[in-house]
Amino acid sequence: MSPQPTGNKPWSGRFRESTDPAVERFTASIDFDRALAQYDLRGSRAHVRMLQSVGLVSADECNEMLRGLDAIETEIQTAKFVYDPALEDIHMAIESRLGALVGPVAGKLHTGRSRNDQVATDFALYLRDVESAAQRALLELCAVLIERGTEHLDTVLPGYTHLQRAQPVRLAHHWLAFVGMFQRDVGRLCDARARLDRAPLGAGALAGSTLPLDREHTARELGFAAPNPNSMDAVASRDGALEFLSAAAIAMVHLSRLAEELVLWSSSEFGFVELADAYSTGSSLMPNKKNPDVPELVRGKSGRVIGDLVALLTVLKGLPLTYNRDLQEDKEPVFDAARTLCDCLEVMTGAIATLRVNTARMGEAASDPMLLATDLAEALVREGVPFREAHEAVGRAVGHCVEKEVDLRSLSREDLHGFHPAFPASAGELLSLESALESRKLIGGTARENVEQNLNQARSAVAAALANFDADRGNA
Ligand code: ARG
Repeated sequence: MSPQPTGNKPWSGRFRESTDPAVERFTASIDFDRALAQYDLRGSRAHVRMLQSVGLVSADECNEMLRGLDAIETEIQTAKFVYDPALEDIHMAIESRLGALVGPVAGKLHTGRSRNDQVATDFALYLRDVESAAQRALLELCAVLIERGTEHLDTVLPGYTHLQRAQPVRLAHHWLAFVGMFQRDVGRLCDARARLDRAPLGAGALAGSTLPLDREHTARELGFAAPNPNSMDAVASRDGALEFLSAAAIAMVHLSRLAEELVLWSSSEFGFVELADAYSTGSSLMPNKKNPDVPELVRGKSGRVIGDLVALLTVLKGLPLTYNRDLQEDKEPVFDAARTLCDCLEVMTGAIATLRVNTARMGEAASDPMLLATDLAEALVREGVPFREAHEAVGRAVGHCVEKEVDLRSLSREDLHGFHPAFPASAGELLSLESALESRKLIGGTARENVEQNLNQARSAVAAALANFDADRGNA
């Protein structure tokens, strides 16, 4: 059988048969890596200008190629660009289109470059952008939690451990706990982004180039602090993507916990909140239903982002240096996690902003006198009783109230003396919701002043971070 024609692939020179169509489909990534198009164009422009600056292409050739790259950008923006799977990936599709637009000079675009350093560069640029977008969306959620918390500084509900009513807290305090988590998520994304500051471009396939490329030039133009000084690390590593995925997975776990509370709290059993109609859905069968599908989906989607992280960790763990085609599997998990995280942040921000809070139901649940039992034990501690002994005595008093179905606060001083002689007053005098909240004045406690101060600090920190963002479009 005579050799088949070799097709139009840039690497087809040493091949005598054309690619099997199933292999073409199997190896193609253009269906998803088209998301990198704008970063690929940015990288190519920087590369072409660098080639001109070192004399590898003339000024005219450089301008021709830049003109062609601009035309491709317009085609992409106006949905006229053809994503041909035969061209494998977005990088080859753009290069091939450049050839069609500007002729043989396009053959100089890939001078000194490999798709290995090209794709690593594009991916780093993409990651930096989504890390910024996710930070901003997290800060916006924080701003809404702080605003709603401020509105509910005096709304009291039970704080829970083991999902059992434990001690009274302010709703602002409860939501500030999430603000703390989301602020650390912002910090993680910010750190990850700051570490993506070494440009892979110029690393070639793995060992650099014999040509006099100026790696500082492309690094600078693309906003990196410097070129990656090790060409093998530059093409083989994906820990920048792993850091994004781990920060995204952690943020999704935080969102999922907040979502779980909205699901619980909006049930008739709790009745603490009601989701706005705009953030709820109905049942196709039961006309009475108003379902918390939005928080449920957020909770469900945290699973896929955790999966995205595990997928890429698993792709990387057995790979010998340097580039292996397995690395093409880095993209879909990252694209999926980025889209999922940003979508979830958007809907959760809206759900919290429009949430109706049933302060009466929360207050009713918080007025359970058993929530004050710890304070009764601490009243004994103030009389010099060892805490363990006080705990035991109050435990017996609580047991008595449960058995007799009486309110803990109804115990007189004499009743209390039956459990411990050191009780200084009646339970009614020793216990109140107000003093339970207000006497916890130490850092992190429930006193109004503390929580208000925390709200103020968080509000200025978030506003400053958002303003900083607007100023440099970079890190918070
Ligand atoms: N589409 C490939 C990827 O995303 C580009 C790199 C191909 N390099 C190669 N040596 N085959 O990883």
